This record gives sequence, C-alpha cells and structure tokens, in this order.
Amino acid sequence: MNKGLPTTSLMDPPTSKPTRNAGRVGRLPLPVVAVFAFLLLQSVFEIRVARDDAVKLPLHASEIIDKCRALSIKPGPPEDFHLRTHSDRFVAGTKPTLIKNATIWTGGVGGLEILKGDILVTNGLIKGVGVIDKDYLAALDDVVTIDASGAWVSPGIVDLHSHLGVSPSPSLSGSNDGNSRKGPILPWLRALDSLNTHNDAYRLSVAGGVTTALVLPGSANAIGGQGIVIKLRPPEDRSPTGMLLENPYSTNQTEYDTSAVFRYRQMKHACGENPNRVYSDTRMDVIWAFRQAYDKARQIKNTQDQYCTKALAGEWKGLAPDFPEDLQWEALVDVLRGRVKVHTHCYETVDLDDLVRITNEFKFSIAAFHHAHETYLVPDTLKAAYGHPPAIALFASNARYKRESYRGSEFAPRVLADNGLQVVMKSDHPVLDSRFLLYEAQQAHYYGLDGNLALLSVTGTPAQVMGEDHRIGFIKAGYDADLVLWDSHPLALGATPQQVWIDGIPQLSSPHVHRKPASSQASPQTPDFDKEASDAVKFDGLPPLGPKTSNDDFVVFTNVSRVLTMDTKGIEDIFVAGGELGVALVHNGKLFVDLAGGWISPGLISFGSVLGLEEIQGEASTSDGYVLDPLLYKVPDIAGGDNSIIRAADGLQYTTRNALLAYMSGITAAITAPKAAGFLAGLSVVFATSAKHQLDDGGLIQDVAAVHVFIHHVFIGQGEIPLVIDVDNADIMASLLRLKGEIEEELDTSLKFVFSGASEAHLLAKEISDAGVGVVVSPSRSYPGSWENRRILPGPPLSEKSNLLELRAHNVSVALGVPSAWEARNTRFDLGWIALEAGESMSKKEVLALASVNLQQLLGVHSFETDLVASKGGDLLDFDSKVVAVISPRRGIVDLF
Ligand SMILES: *[C@@H]1O[C@H](CO)[C@@H](O)[C@H](O)[C@H]1NC(C)=O
Ligand SMILES: *[C@@H]1O[C@H](CO)[C@@H](O)[C@H](O)[C@H]1NC(C)=O
Ligand SMILES: *[C@@H]1O[C@H](CO)[C@@H](O)[C@H](O)[C@H]1NC(C)=O
Ligand SMILES: *[C@@H]1O[C@H](CO)[C@@H](O)[C@H](O)[C@H]1NC(C)=O
Repeated sequence: MNKGLPTTSLMDPPTSKPTRNAGRVGRLPLPVVAVFAFLLLQSVFEIRVARDDAVKLPLHASEIIDKCRALSIKPGPPEDFHLRTHSDRFVAGTKPTLIKNATIWTGGVGGLEILKGDILVTNGLIKGVGVIDKDYLAALDDVVTIDASGAWVSPGIVDLHSHLGVSPSPSLSGSNDGNSRKGPILPWLRALDSLNTHNDAYRLSVAGGVTTALVLPGSANAIGGQGIVIKLRPPEDRSPTGMLLENPYSTNQTEYDTSAVFRYRQMKHACGENPNRVYSDTRMDVIWAFRQAYDKARQIKNTQDQYCTKALAGEWKGLAPDFPEDLQWEALVDVLRGRVKVHTHCYETVDLDDLVRITNEFKFSIAAFHHAHETYLVPDTLKAAYGHPPAIALFASNARYKRESYRGSEFAPRVLADNGLQVVMKSDHPVLDSRFLLYEAQQAHYYGLDGNLALLSVTGTPAQVMGEDHRIGFIKAGYDADLVLWDSHPLALGATPQQVWIDGIPQLSSPHVHRKPASSQASPQTPDFDKEASDAVKFDGLPPLGPKTSNDDFVVFTNVSRVLTMDTKGIEDIFVAGGELGVALVHNGKLFVDLAGGWISPGLISFGSVLGLEEIQGEASTSDGYVLDPLLYKVPDIAGGDNSIIRAADGLQYTTRNALLAYMSGITAAITAPKAAGFLAGLSVVFATSAKHQLDDGGLIQDVAAVHVFIHHVFIGQGEIPLVIDVDNADIMASLLRLKGEIEEELDTSLKFVFSGASEAHLLAKEISDAGVGVVVSPSRSYPGSWENRRILPGPPLSEKSNLLELRAHNVSVALGVPSAWEARNTRFDLGWIALEAGESMSKKEVLALASVNLQQLLGVHSFETDLVASKGGDLLDFDSKVVAVISPRRGIVDLF
C-alpha cells in the first residue's frame, strides 16, 4: 500500500504472538520472517524495540504508522501532475481537436489575458494555446479542425453550488435525495451516495457551457454532509463514480483512500433559518450543535495526534492496539486537518459572525460562504475568519425571498471585490437553472463587477475554491480540455455556446447557432452604478428605492435616439433619430437629461408573480396570504361563501422592494392575481408599481382584469373577462381546448382563454393557434422541473426555437410573464434575450410588445395612458443601458432615478 512499505502481515513484529500469524506468514520458517521484519522495522521506522523487550508492538503497527504519517499530508495534486500527457478522464478514441482562429479568454493574468489564435486538444488535455507548433500538429492523426472565425472561447463554466443529480429533474417523489432530516450534524453523509445519473438537467446545463459542478447536500442541517465535484458529460461507465473529478472514492473502496493521491474533499455547512426551521431550534441551538460536533472532532484529532507523536517516535508503551479513529467522524476530523473545503450556506451578519467565531475557536477555514446576502456589509468580519477570508458565492439578483436575503444587493459582487474578497456566482441548481449560470456573472458585471472578475467568478475562482484549479477553470496547456466556443462575448446578454467540450469530447451533436449582431462580440459598455452601490452599503442593505419626482416644471431629454409610444393596438414610433440625436421635451424645458443615445419607450408590464402582494416570500406576515379554495375548503359565508371570488385588488400592498426595483427597471405596471395554493386564484388587478398606496393618484389602474385558475390535473369559466389558466402540461391543454370547443358549440358563444406558464405549449402550437387561445409564456426560458412540464423546447443551441418563438411562428398571440416577484426587474433582459434569439423575425417594437401591449390585450386590461421609460445609453433590451426616468403623462409627472 502506501509509499511501497511492506505489507502488514510481513511487518508483524517478532514480539507479537506467533500463532496468530502462522497462517498468514505461510511457508517461510517463522524465525526467518521475524528477523527480517525486525530489521525492516529498525531501519524504516527506527523503532527502538531492542532497548525495551517489554514493549509489545500492536498487531497492525505498520498500518498505524502509515496512518500517522498520512496525517500531515496536505491535499493537492502530486508534484509531477503537470507532466501528465493523458487525462485520467481521457476516453479512448477521442480525436485530437484543433480550434482555429479563436479569441481566447484564458482566465490568466487575473482574467485579463486574451489571446488570438488556436487551441490544440489531445488526450483529454489542452496541449497548446495560441500558436501551435506545425510539426507537432502534422504528426497527429485524424485531427478534428474547428474554425472559430474569431469567436470567443472560454474555459468550461464551473458551478460552485449545485444540487444537480441529488435533486433530479423532473422531480419525482422517489428522487428527493438531496437532504437528510436525521439530525443537525451529519458530516458522514455523502452526496455521491445520492447522485442520480438520470437527470434531464445535465444535458441542459452542458448546453449552457457548464462543464463542472460541486454537488452539495441541502441546507436542512448545520452539517449536511460531503459534497462531490462532478463533470457533467455522460460517463463511459454510466455510473455516478464515473462522473467524479479527482475521485476520492472508487467503486471497490468505499472509504476515502488517503494512501492514494490526496484530494480535497468538500463539506456542506448551513446556518441561520434553514437548519433552524427543520429542528424548530434557535440560532443558539444551531451554533451549539456546530460547537459540539467540532469539539468531538477536535478530541478525536487530539487523541490521534498524541497517539501518533508516540507511535512515530516508537514509544508504543501504553498505546492502544488500534489507531484512534471513528468512521462517523473522520470527515469532520479531516476538516480540522485542513483537507476539506467547507462550504457554508450563511446569509445574515449574525450568522456570518457566529461562523467566523467558530472557525477561530476550532481552527479551520471556510472555503466559501454561499448565498451570503449580507457579506458585502461586513467585509472585516469575513477577513477575521481563521486562515483566510472565505470566498463569497452569490446569486446576482435573486433576493428578498426570506428575511435572510432581504438586504441582498445586486451590487454585492462588486462591493465584495472592491474589498479584496473573492467572488463566485453560483446557481444552487435547481433554484436557478445552472444552464444560465453565466447570466449571473453577466448581471454581476452589469451592476459593476469588473469583466475579468465576472468571468473568473464562474470559471477560475470556483475552480480554485474547490481545490481544482490545477486542472480546470483556465485555458492553459496541461489543463483538462473543458472549453466553450461562444456565439458572442461571454459577458454579452444571451451568450450561447456553439460547442462545449468536456475532456476534449464535443457535447453538442448538432448545435443550432444564431447569427448575432456584431455588437454582441464586444463586452457590454455597462452603465455607472457607483452611487447605487455605495448607497447599498450606506443604508445597510436597504437603500431608499422610491423615485424622486422632479420638482422642475419642465424636463428635457437630450441625445435621444428613438421615442416609442403604445396604444391598445401596438407600439408606434414617434421619433427615430437619423444622423443627429433628438431632444424630447416634457412640458417646456428646464431640467436636462442626457440619454446618450438612449430610448424613450413604453413602460413594461409584469405578470405571473405575486408582485404587490407580499414583501418577503418566506414571511407570511408580510403577505396578504393565500385565497381559500372553494374546491378544497368550505369558504365561510362571512368571507363570501363558496361562490365568492377573491379580488387581488383588496390585498395589494404598495412600495414593496420588488415592485420598486421593477419600476426602476422599466416595469411601470403589474397585473397580479391573488396568491393561490389551490385551483381558483381569483380576479387579477392592474396597478402602478411606483404608487405609494391604492389611493395614490393613478395607483390602481384597473381593479379587475381577468379570472385566474391553476390547472394541474378541469373547470371552465365564462364571461366577458378572460379566463387565465395556469397550466404547463400539453395533455391538459389539449383537454381544455376540446372542452372550450364543446362549450362554445353548445352555448353558441366564444370563450376567451389564456394559458399561462405553458412550458409544453409548443407541442400544441397549431391547435392553440386554431382555437384562438393566447399564451403567456412564463418563464421565458423553460426548465423541466416537474413531470408536467418536462417536455420543454429548450432553445438554442439544443433546438432552433424556444417555446415562445415556436408559438409565435404559429401565429399564437403570445406575451411574456415571470414566475417570481424578484425577477420582475429582469423582464427587460428576458426580452433582450428573446430579441437576440428571434433575430430578424421580430422587430424591437414587437419584442417590447411581449411584456406590454400583448399582456394588456390578452389579460383584458383596458386602455390606459401608459408611462414612458427613458433609458440612458441604449434601449431597454441590453446591458449597455440604464433606466434613468419615467415620464408619466397619466400622472403628469417625471420620476428620476
Ligand atoms: C479569423 O476570423 C476573422 C473573423 O471571421 C477573420 O476576419 C480573420 O481573417 C480570421 N483570421 C484567420 C487567421 O483566419
Ligand atoms: C480497485 O479498482 C481499481 C481500478 O479499477 C484497481 O486498480 C484496484 O486494484 C482495485 N483495488 C482493489 C483493492 O481491488
Ligand atoms: C450629447 O452627447 C454628446 C456625446 O456624448 C455630448 O458631448 C453632449 O454633451 C450631449 N449633449 C447634451 C445636450 O447633453
Ligand atoms: C401566420 O400568419 C401569417 C400572416 O397572416 C401567414 O402568412 C402565415 O402563413 C401564418 N402562419 C401559420 C403557421 O399559420
């Protein structure tokens, strides 16, 4: 076994009982064996047996010595690692590949290095980058050559926080294997033991450029268990073990084999609400659970160290016959030995502070705080952590879903980087679809994180944090050949892989590649958010968001390139700049706003989420609550009885942070249905996202818009207002279409149906079109989260079109919705993404209509004078612009941001 030492049976010392070993020693005469072993012991271990005849060496002394020596070995690659000529993951038969004429973002020089040239891949490794030796190339057989035509190539995307495989897609009750609820402290559990290889999301995430993921157990426990690093391509042997990168376990060796090359292990910790919730504890209980566990690990470690100090010195007298260890606790002991990357789900200042104290009490480092929505407020606390400051793994704009994330800020990545802390963007897949992890980095860049750091945040930085940066995360000779050839600059909105290689193997068999505008090849010219970022810190995470209504009688917008307005029929140009940019005058002119080529366009409308009905999703007290469903419960008469139908208008709360952030991103109105957990939601309302309250001038735009129901496995409604049916499954949609036809024929009337959600609608595009049913697609980019919506049309590069464009190609009236209130603000980017995918098949006016006039038409919103949004630096649809003002003819004001 280790380091060529003799095997245990030969090493059994002469003083041990000969009879016990007779069988194993075999045919050699005992005295010979004994003398031989004694000499070896003396030379190899310097054990002074001869001086003390009374000392008995334990039976497994050599094994113990091996273990003791191994205690001080640090994980990491062997010294000759970079001399490797083949990857251990190389698949025989994979051809060498030459990617020619690429623009290569290598990740080197702090993410600033960009090379123009070629990349050669052989044996699963990057063989050369830049200029490839011609003779070397000529000597290779069967080289696959790809002409990148100048397109961008980056390292494969690395996700530092995923539940791929342990939280399968589609989700089925038999597959919820991501989190044990057996107690708060479970360091002995291993995500590997749950990793399911049958999961639609692997293929989808690869199609987004993700090549490696750290799969972690969930956050229901203080210590949830061990994570694993996997590569996302289907392994040759079809087994979970075959997916592992730097496999610490093998199929025939279930324990971590420390005699093999040392690999970093990964461990999940969590503090705050999640472990509290599961065990009905307080933060005090959770922290005590940590301390108790670490105290136990420390005791074992100390016992081992004391034991080994003696054993290695040959002082066996009084030592127990067995090495002091405990299978259940060995992983946590390994944390204390600095061999485990600790990933801590931890949001709030109180929790961060607690964990930093624990690292100092027990002397171990945290690799990264994950989610970590308040870290940007307490950089000094992070720097006080034992060993080194943890990296911070964040979402870009997903926040306010519970108290812990209430102070989350889109400026956190940039503020943390300004404080010298490492920033990682992560998916927490399936919380966010890791296929679009790069979008998280793009948003972080939009809100001020430097481009080089933004790209590193999903490549080199997570690779380093998980201890794999000797082979992944960078484009460098000798590294694993995990590469992505993009259709645009990787920080440009909607950047989509043209091809993805993992271990040198191309992953997309017939990718659909769209032509993008030339501007997509450059990094976006993001706006200035300096003041907003500093306000986020100044106001402790809750900067005032309300608009400042101009006190000037007159506002002038200069350098305007286009002005659009909207009526019930559509969006119309009222001004398009030719050579010179224009001036838009609101009233007569006093305050000047330079739009730097920006647009003035109709305010967007948000639909699909509970925007305006709650402040914090996880806090019932901040919400009006769920409507009573007459199909499931008896609705008391005082509440209207079983025939009642609830109006969202009666539960509206104004000035929620999500609504104000949406307003500042161009959403001037929202259509919201009552919050429902059952079938019947009720009557939706149309309100102004900027208003202070319902009685505020123009705050309530229309108190009843449509009737909303949720159909997931049928009910029919009729009336003048549209029936909006939340439905994903194509079979259910087909039943509804048939029913609609039958009722219309029976009653000789026409029903106005709208499907909302509708992930599988593309399967029935013609039938939906023939039936005259409109569809609000939500979310924009489908994900097969459940059985009912598993048959998605994924969009490029896996299919030519996505759901919305496929429906539109069949002349279905379509509009765009968003499922969650926090993402209402991102509607403009969802639209921009659709515009890129639609190419010349849709004008920008038609794209803007998807989240404005089309929603208005489909959801029965009467005509209202729409607000106009002024965006500086470009239109609403990309990362170059920023919303700077809302002009409201309806309210007779101009709001400035
Ligand atoms: C690389 O591609 C660009 C864009 O297509 C082209 O202009 C250039 O000539 C190509 N360079 C080489 C060396 O082929
Ligand atoms: C375990 O499997 C590996 C790889 O298949 C093999 O090299 C090794 O000898 C096996 N070890 C044992 C103890 O069987
Ligand atoms: C319009 O933009 C140009 C170029 O950025 C700038 O120099 C000029 O000052 C702007 N004009 C006004 C009136 O803001
Ligand atoms: C959609 O409508 C256009 C214009 O009316 C028509 O030319 C086209 O054939 C229609 N497409 C389908 C698939 O019905």
